[in-house]
Amino acid sequence: DPPESLKFRPPVVTIMGHVDHGKTSLLDAIRQTNVTSHEAGGITQHIGAYQVRYNGKKIVFMDTPGHEAFTAMRARGAQVTDIAVLVVAADDGVMPQTIESINHAKSAGVPVIVAINKIDKEGANPSQVMQQLTEYGLVGEDWGGDTIMVPVSAHKKIGLDELLENILVLAEVSDLKANPDRPARGVVIEAKLDKGRGSVASVLIQKGTLHVGDTVIVGTCYGNVRAMTNERGERMKKAEPSIPVEILGLNDVPEAGDILNVVDEKTARSVAEKRMEKKRTSELHQNQKV
Ligand code: GTP
Ligand code: NA
Ligand code: MG
Repeated sequence: DPPESLKFRPPVVTIMGHVDHGKTSLLDAIRQTNVTSHEAGGITQHIGAYQVRYNGKKIVFMDTPGHEAFTAMRARGAQVTDIAVLVVAADDGVMPQTIESINHAKSAGVPVIVAINKIDKEGANPSQVMQQLTEYGLVGEDWGGDTIMVPVSAHKKIGLDELLENILVLAEVSDLKANPDRPARGVVIEAKLDKGRGSVASVLIQKGTLHVGDTVIVGTCYGNVRAMTNERGERMKKAEPSIPVEILGLNDVPEAGDILNVVDEKTARSVAEKRMEKKRTSELHQNQKV
């Protein structure tokens, strides 16, 4: 897209870290403190990602475990994350999955913000965590490095503002842009078959704007977007870059990481059929091997 058609888009953030270091608690705390009251009253749907608004700006959090978000999507060549928040428990320190997370983020070229969690706990030692992280190339700004490290407590809701502010600052310097004025391209976060609604796919829009009524191809599936909702179950007519939506109307259930593209109806059907054929052939080969 030509540079003049690029516009700022909200950052998409993934939370990573060792088991039980507080990833879910931190997301919950952020969500609780950053939804408006009428939103909180709605029926929340699980769509794999959600938007929060902070100081009037949107931040999109991936609700899938960080590792899955990275591996399943990247295996298909889709990159969904702009920023990784690495959660490290202040009482436990750097653990095997902390290191794995750092490696995932590094190989994806995604900048890391460290949230040193559970600082309310007895035995919490944030500077020891900072010390340990230096061994993996993450050096805090206080220590002359360039990694943002924020002490937080999901339980006591300490440091959440600072964390969100830093996410927005990093988003700004990362110059996140996309052209909203073109046919949409997106990536499937998760998908399922719903008894009443049929194929339901959560899609993160990456470029362009998706409209109800658009014809899309998604992996080996295709269809017209019959309806779209956000994570609060609210109907939407369109979705712009970085916005996660649930879409109805596909002829089948796509896979996480599948790419969505808006195309004309004829192309949608023929490309989907070709891909389906290719998939069948390769599955047949797989079966013959074993
Ligand atoms: P997995 O998804 O299983 O990897 O865990 P997680 O990283 O999502 O951690 P989770 O949020 O489930 O928290 C693990 C435990 O730590 C729970 O018992 C939480 O109550 C506790 N915990 C999380 N954050 C804090 C905190 O800020 N302070 C204290 N004291 N406990 C916390
Ligand atoms: Na847990
Ligand atoms: Mg969790």
